[in-house]
Amino acid sequence: MQRRIIKKNGTQITSEDIIFFNGLGDAITKIYGLLRKESRIIGPSPAYPTHSSAEGLHAKCHPLMYLTDENNNWYPDLDDLRNKVKYNPAVSGILVINPGNPTSAVYPKKILEEIVDIANEYDLFILCDEIYHHLVYNGKKHIYLSEVIDDVCGISLKGISKEFPWPGARCGWVEIYNVDKDEVFKKYIDGICKFKMIEVCSTTLPQKVIPKVMGDQRFYRYLDERKKHYEWASNIAYKKLKPIEGLIVNKTYGAFYMGVAFDSNKLNGNQRLKIENKDLKKYIDGVSNGKPWDVRFIYHLLASSGICMVPMSSFNSPLYGFRSTLLEKDRNKLKWTYETLAEKIQEYLGS
Ligand SMILES: Cc1ncc(COP(=O)(O)O)c(C=O)c1O
Repeated sequence: MQRRIIKKNGTQITSEDIIFFNGLGDAITKIYGLLRKESRIIGPSPAYPTHSSAEGLHAKCHPLMYLTDENNNWYPDLDDLRNKVKYNPAVSGILVINPGNPTSAVYPKKILEEIVDIANEYDLFILCDEIYHHLVYNGKKHIYLSEVIDDVCGISLKGISKEFPWPGARCGWVEIYNVDKDEVFKKYIDGICKFKMIEVCSTTLPQKVIPKVMGDQRFYRYLDERKKHYEWASNIAYKKLKPIEGLIVNKTYGAFYMGVAFDSNKLNGNQRLKIENKDLKKYIDGVSNGKPWDVRFIYHLLASSGICMVPMSSFNSPLYGFRSTLLEKDRNKLKWTYETLAEKIQEYLGS
């Protein structure tokens, strides 16, 4: 009954094609965990680590990843994706995260269509995490997997955790496309559904609330206000960081992050920021020792300014960099944060 509200956009699905989970974290665990033992899902690098960890855990090795291009809006490197798919017959699915975490990239239709073409050619399904689909700004429009999927088997992931200010409520869902087009895919989805049915009524409350919230215009006004803020914040962040030599900065169009890479030759293991407190300085020297060079930067930044960010290397990326957020609602504080960050990066790179 509650499931009906969720079906929309492009390809036709029924309420039977929607499965609810205790948040997408739960969905992701089941999607990778219930894959055939030998099957792999290739995902973007960098990526939200719940996906890459679940993939690596399932395969009992390093997650399989295709590159995204930090010099081109963090769009997928389609040649790299195609080559990795072509030469690895174990690949049975492609993960797309759109809008991206940690990159905040929003993909154009053409790129999504080309990914669908690759999936079609190699008989793969597409797993598309669209949890940030309502948070797109700076003039871009979100293109849904359902708009481009054609006859290819697909799974779209959506949820409430980025949209509803409701701490403690855990609810995400998957929409299944073209389940009847492939017997193996159908069996896989049946398996996920059966496994989920063991957990009786775990998301009943959010399921009851979602239609009421999403059926109310105030929800969309609330999202519009948030998007306006992220747009403003993303432009402040871009203006402050873009001119810094040694950084690769892309404008953000979705979600609420800024994924920034350092030029590969600009970091080393000896750079530092001034830390006034002697005990803290000693502590940071200890914990930074032997860590990836962007982790070292993050520790120094935290100790010298109080600004906390996530190193890019922790998103299964070969690049050094960081992910900051656009979430701070106090505009002066947000401006201070990015001004200070810009100063600290320059101090660090010049040290
Ligand atoms: C791309 C992406 N997918 C899924 C999630 C997790 O969703 P949930 O809170 O529903 O577990 C996150 C959370 O940060 C995310 O960034």
